[in-house]
Amino acid sequence: MSWNIVLLPGDGIGPEVTRVARAALEQAALQTGIKLNFNSQHFGGASIDAHGEPLTADTLKACQAADAVFLGAVGGPKWDDAPERPEAGLLALRKGLGVFANLRPTSVHPALSDRSPLRQELVEGADMLIVRELTGGIYFGEREVSENSASDKCTYSRHEIERVARVAFEQARLRRGKLTSVDKANVLSTSKLWRSVVSELGAQDYPDVALDHMYVDAAAMHLLRAPRDFDVVLTENMFGDILSDEASMLPGSIGLLGSASLGRERPGLFEPIHGSAPDIAGEDKANPFGAIESAAQLLEAGLGENEAAALIRRAVDRMHANREWTGDLGGDLTCSRLGIRLIEQMEALDNTRQPVLAAG
Ligand code: NAD
Ligand code: IPM
Ligand code: MN
Repeated sequence: MSWNIVLLPGDGIGPEVTRVARAALEQAALQTGIKLNFNSQHFGGASIDAHGEPLTADTLKACQAADAVFLGAVGGPKWDDAPERPEAGLLALRKGLGVFANLRPTSVHPALSDRSPLRQELVEGADMLIVRELTGGIYFGEREVSENSASDKCTYSRHEIERVARVAFEQARLRRGKLTSVDKANVLSTSKLWRSVVSELGAQDYPDVALDHMYVDAAAMHLLRAPRDFDVVLTENMFGDILSDEASMLPGSIGLLGSASLGRERPGLFEPIHGSAPDIAGEDKANPFGAIESAAQLLEAGLGENEAAALIRRAVDRMHANREWTGDLGGDLTCSRLGIRLIEQMEALDNTRQPVLAAG
């Protein structure tokens, strides 16, 4: 099979982690006999510098025509006062691809359980999936600014809630059958609608999934008190942004988490959840595991190339077991060196495969 992938390395550590993710994709393709064609485009601040805007019409078109899109990270102090910030390009890209469901898994590999700022016995075995609504809510509402006041409008339609909730219910069926919907229905009207649509859908179409509801403030607390209680967490755009950064402290670094943003059809958008990390950019210190996991999600959820995705994840598991990490986790590898070790681990896995027919 042959697939076309657009790469958007972006800004800061974006290009550093994208290089490693690309190497993982190429190696997985080589070992499983698929063909990947890459097309790299400026995006975010890099695109502002090259073309005067964070997402050009040509880049959006190239992304829409691709089989999958991989993004590093965007933003940085250089563009914080630009008329259109790099982050606006990211929102336009998500909207332009129609990727309304953002899947952000977090699990704690046994070797990582002592890397968390939380107690080891508390985080051990935690394994959750945050399903974040990605193309609605306050991120996309009308904005008004004047000298003495500003407003951001938050709107959700039944349709927007239902389609992302379906994704979360389906994911719960594939996992441990539990869904926690997070909202602020004690205050916000969008959350009241959210809760009633999710409840109705659950009762009608997913009675086999154990559904509960939690207010976002309590969920933020519960996530630290008893993270193993969560299986799938469904929530709106802004709450999901915040809770997923919080959840990254279960395994101990934001650099570990990847994500898949999916719509009705291809292409999906695959990106680590972290930003451009201006404080460490250019120093080869970034943790690329989140980008590597996003590459695995691109192969699995984006292209259905499950064997290639599994190969990457098995190599990552081995590296965790060996404590082969970057500095954020107390390891001594640089970002690029970690990439080289990953490829070596993938090659080694190939050599340990059982031959299909035993010799003799
Ligand atoms: P950030 O995620 O870039 O960094 C937060 C902290 O985590 C920093 O100390 C950073 O060094 C560290 N960190 C992040 N990724 C890491 C990695 N892979 N390895 C090791 N350490 C890592 O968040 P921020 O500082 O709030 O934002 C910086 C810029 O990135 C802003 O312009 C913001 O808008 C943008 N941003 C972009 C995305 C994206 O492209 N998807 C996501 C979040 C933030
Ligand atoms: C993320 C980021 C983005 C978001 C920003 C950069 C627009 O924080 O991908 O989590 O808030 O969605
Ligand atoms: Mn975020």
